[in-house]
Amino acid sequence: MPGRVMAASVVGLDCYPIQVEADIFQNSVLPAFDVVGLPDKTVQESRARVRSAIKNSGFLFPPKRVTVNLAPADLKKEGPAFDLAMALAILKAQESLQFDEQEKIFIGELSLEGELRHVNGIISVASMIKERGFKRLFLPECDLAEASLISNIEIYPVKSLTQLIMHLTGKNVIIPTNSRGLINLDENNVISKFDMAYIKGQEHAKRALEIAAAGSHNILMSGPPGSGKTLLARTLPTILPKMTVSEALEVTKIYSIAGLLKDNDSLVKIRPFRSPHHTASGVSLVGGGAFPKPGEISLAHRGVLFLDELPEFDRKILDNLRQPLEDNIIQISRAQQTLSFPAKFTLVASMNPCPCGYYMSNDRECSCTPIEVSRYQKRISGPLMDRIDLYIDVPKVKYENLVDEKLAEKSANVQTRVQKAREIQEKRFANMAITSNSEMGHSEMRNFCRIDSVSQELLRNAVNTLHLSARAYNRILKVSRTIADLEGSVNIESKHIAEALQYRPKEI
Ligand SMILES: Nc1ncnc2c1ncn2[C@@H]1O[C@H](COP(=O)(O)OP(=O)(O)OP(=O)(O)O)[C@@H](O)[C@H]1O
Ligand SMILES: [Mg+2]
Repeated sequence: MPGRVMAASVVGLDCYPIQVEADIFQNSVLPAFDVVGLPDKTVQESRARVRSAIKNSGFLFPPKRVTVNLAPADLKKEGPAFDLAMALAILKAQESLQFDEQEKIFIGELSLEGELRHVNGIISVASMIKERGFKRLFLPECDLAEASLISNIEIYPVKSLTQLIMHLTGKNVIIPTNSRGLINLDENNVISKFDMAYIKGQEHAKRALEIAAAGSHNILMSGPPGSGKTLLARTLPTILPKMTVSEALEVTKIYSIAGLLKDNDSLVKIRPFRSPHHTASGVSLVGGGAFPKPGEISLAHRGVLFLDELPEFDRKILDNLRQPLEDNIIQISRAQQTLSFPAKFTLVASMNPCPCGYYMSNDRECSCTPIEVSRYQKRISGPLMDRIDLYIDVPKVKYENLVDEKLAEKSANVQTRVQKAREIQEKRFANMAITSNSEMGHSEMRNFCRIDSVSQELLRNAVNTLHLSARAYNRILKVSRTIADLEGSVNIESKHIAEALQYRPKEI
């Protein structure tokens, strides 16, 4: 009789139950151990671990032909998380162990000694168990905290195969933890070392970041080396609205699958800030691989993706960002499957204005030729530039500001204003597919960006004298909407338009 138990496989952010079946050919002459059901190399390697773990837990590994099947067979299986279920299925098949497998899911990598080790994606497994009504999850003890984030499942923390067998045979019962899904996001209030209070001067840049945070607008900062662009970008997560519980769970799922959850912290509590290097590959940026893993854009989900030194990035690689910037999701197609990871982030980019960094700077002469400057600025792909709403110059900090001992306004204060502006947008876009001003299309703009005759006159002058394109015009209206929201103003007024005009690029 084949032995059967349930395990789970994480694909993208989703998780599916997997039935692990083991059969032993009693009449076979030569011992063998096959795993079928689209296993990858890491699953094939389970055979060695499972064989040793069974032996070192005091059982005989059957000296026969053993076949393990992972069903459904058309879903690719990856990783060492099936070890535990395979060992149990084999022990059941050879009748060394009998227990009721109903409503139970077994997850864990085995050491050769039979101890259980951490696996990635536990929070996705726990969500699936709750949704599909399995009730009981047996997992490595070290993964208990992560699974406890999901409410109303019985979680059994297991140290070793031996301990689990003692439990299943009723000899020494493991006390389950009833998860309550208690999530404490208080640490959101911890003052980050990147608080805006520590940035001297740069009021213009800080204001632009506040607008970016309030309306979820992408922003590009340009300025000489050492002017504080990187420092400024790092403060953006501290002024973005606090994460909600569902956002925190979403982000935690992504980090769990990527294997990036820190040991002592099973929940991502603060908005992510990701800063991939300009030599990053396409796959590391958008995700993928033979068994697709989330890339930087998904790790930045609900937070900030910072592209420092933007012109140094490969244009072709940056072009991959177009679709996720539009759809807030990245689709990854592979021969066997297409899957998607969420990727809703605020893009912050920084650049020097030219190769030497001092073009148009007041305090040092630029050593670049006009052709070099133009070539440098044109390195950034047009379609990416189209998705950036705010452009600012970040000049060197003035000496008076640098020596000023006074702290500037705290991020927490700015965050309060941002949060209010977001609440206005939530009400405005209730029942619509969008949530922020930056996502407005033509019809939303027609409804929510009406302007009076004074503002119309101002915009007409700007369009004519500055030769603004239709795209730039729309961008200015959207940014004006956010500036008005920050002020709690129902209407977009001419002063809002005047401010928005400051954040347009010098050349389009
Ligand atoms: N406004 C400021 N207030 C306080 N410190 C600052 C400010 N601007 C810059 N600094 C200091 O200068 C250092 C360099 O700043 P930062 O790395 O942000 O510059 P950058 O504009 O990104 O330069 P680069 O173009 O070379 O990347 C910071 O680590 C910080 O210590
Ligand atoms: Mg920098």
